[in-house]
Amino acid sequence: MAIEVAPQIDGSAATGPGADTGAWWRDAVVYQVYPRSFADGDGDGTGDLRGIARRLTALAELGVDAVWLSPFYPSPQRDGGYDVSDYCDVDPMFGTLDDFDLLVGEAHALGLRVIVDVVPNHASSEHPLFAAALASAPGSRERARFVFRDGSGAAGELPPNNWQSHFGGPAWTRVTEVDGSPGQWYLHLFDPTQPDFDWDNDEVLAFFDEVLDFWLARGVDGFRVDVAHALVKAPGLPDWGGRADGASSPGFPGEDAPMFDQPGVHAIYERWRARLEAWGADRILCAEANVAPLSRAARWVRPREMHQAFNFAYLHAPWDARSLRAVIDESLAAFGGVGAPSTWVLSNHDVVRHATRFALPDGSVEMGHGIAQAAGLDPVRGERRARAATLLMLALPGAAYVYQGEELGLPEVLDIPAAQRRDPYFLRSGGAVVGRDGCRVPIPWEAAAPAYGFNATGESWLPQPAHWATYARDVQRRDPASTLSLYTAALHLRKSLALGSGSLAWVRADDAVLGLVNGEVLVLANLGADPVPLDGHEVLLASTPDAVVDGHLTPDATVWLRRRQEV
Ligand code: NOJ
Repeated sequence: MAIEVAPQIDGSAATGPGADTGAWWRDAVVYQVYPRSFADGDGDGTGDLRGIARRLTALAELGVDAVWLSPFYPSPQRDGGYDVSDYCDVDPMFGTLDDFDLLVGEAHALGLRVIVDVVPNHASSEHPLFAAALASAPGSRERARFVFRDGSGAAGELPPNNWQSHFGGPAWTRVTEVDGSPGQWYLHLFDPTQPDFDWDNDEVLAFFDEVLDFWLARGVDGFRVDVAHALVKAPGLPDWGGRADGASSPGFPGEDAPMFDQPGVHAIYERWRARLEAWGADRILCAEANVAPLSRAARWVRPREMHQAFNFAYLHAPWDARSLRAVIDESLAAFGGVGAPSTWVLSNHDVVRHATRFALPDGSVEMGHGIAQAAGLDPVRGERRARAATLLMLALPGAAYVYQGEELGLPEVLDIPAAQRRDPYFLRSGGAVVGRDGCRVPIPWEAAAPAYGFNATGESWLPQPAHWATYARDVQRRDPASTLSLYTAALHLRKSLALGSGSLAWVRADDAVLGLVNGEVLVLANLGADPVPLDGHEVLLASTPDAVVDGHLTPDATVWLRRRQEV
């Protein structure tokens, strides 16, 4: 193939003021653990911290750099733990603080960093601060920590504004005052059991300063910050034409959304960055800031703010060459423009697993709202494209996030009985919205063990499909053609070839093929219908065993090739 190397776009090296060249997080691969479903040490059917600690060697062997733990804090679990009732403890269902310390110690001994979730936009309605607010009078100091307002309408019988919650219904709930009279309303962008804090209140700032310090003192290497774009609301809480749930508002989240990306939100993270730096230079903040376009998300990773921001545009990109090239260019330009690395991600606990997304008919857009039926899915194509997409992602400069189970090629579980579903999307819509349980099913470790090795008893809080033995880690470990072997090889090669800290130059980008050079490696992804000649380049890694046939790259496949000297 004739290769013309375009100017390099550098996605990781320091380009801006304050950029930390060589810092671990600039090119890290972070593995997301959903604690309820990773490994269950005590056999009660719910994953826990001891279970995670025992399985960390598998992650070190896989070749990731860090582990991000979704919430394990005391919680009524109305939103999978993103409803926190105590920010400085471990829910008994997950273990104890001692278990947490053990986990961090074992992770560090294996060379794995530990990132924990912090949920600052809202607490659980069972948090003592919210209980105190409910027990106190309107206008009190206790109420001022949350967003309480009088209702509209003649007798305050209507919500204070027209905002809608992510999980459906108004974003306001009316309380009954202590004297039994109908009272004020409180804001919850999510479930009614998740009241929003008022971040204009210094007491809230001080409270979270202590939360950060608590976990930093226990040795965590950073925080993933939940809904990092929503903490500060526009003064006066004005009505807004769009909804807070994205799904039903074209252009979400609009520049003008009064609950997202208000100017004041960035000062919070500058404060947090300074606080982290007091503990050393290598503790990080990663923003879950679901704003568009990417140039806007990049505001979270300006030199004095956070270190990383999730790349939702990449997560949502279809398996389409032009769309992918556009989002890769936009990502490197937007994040690189402020001296930050881009991040890349294909799956997480909020979206349909990518092996199933790519099995949908072209043009489908199902993401966070789940899939209930197998009709129309092509699982063979889904797995093939998922592996190709992963190999493309792991060749890109910057940091990458991997969600537990994707390294096993797990598909979304579609047939969870209604009675066992837990996602508020499902429960609050009366089942009309399928929700996210299908990507949260406990993962398989050993084909022949109870619950596929998730625990020793066979219990599982969500049912595991009967056919999951083929996905079990022990089976895949022995199979050089497995998805696990692909991830393991790719992660180790990515590291040895320094792809994460490399740069990107396109050599081909049309409707069918993406070709890029990163250091010593030429990456080709075939998203078209016809085989693509490889011109004799040596294959370092291929997304499937049959990716290369007769010196050609087959459709829906990616290869890493050794770049020839003369190229
Ligand atoms: C984003 C989290 O990833 C999601 O699981 C949760 O429901 C919302 N934030 C609310 O905390």
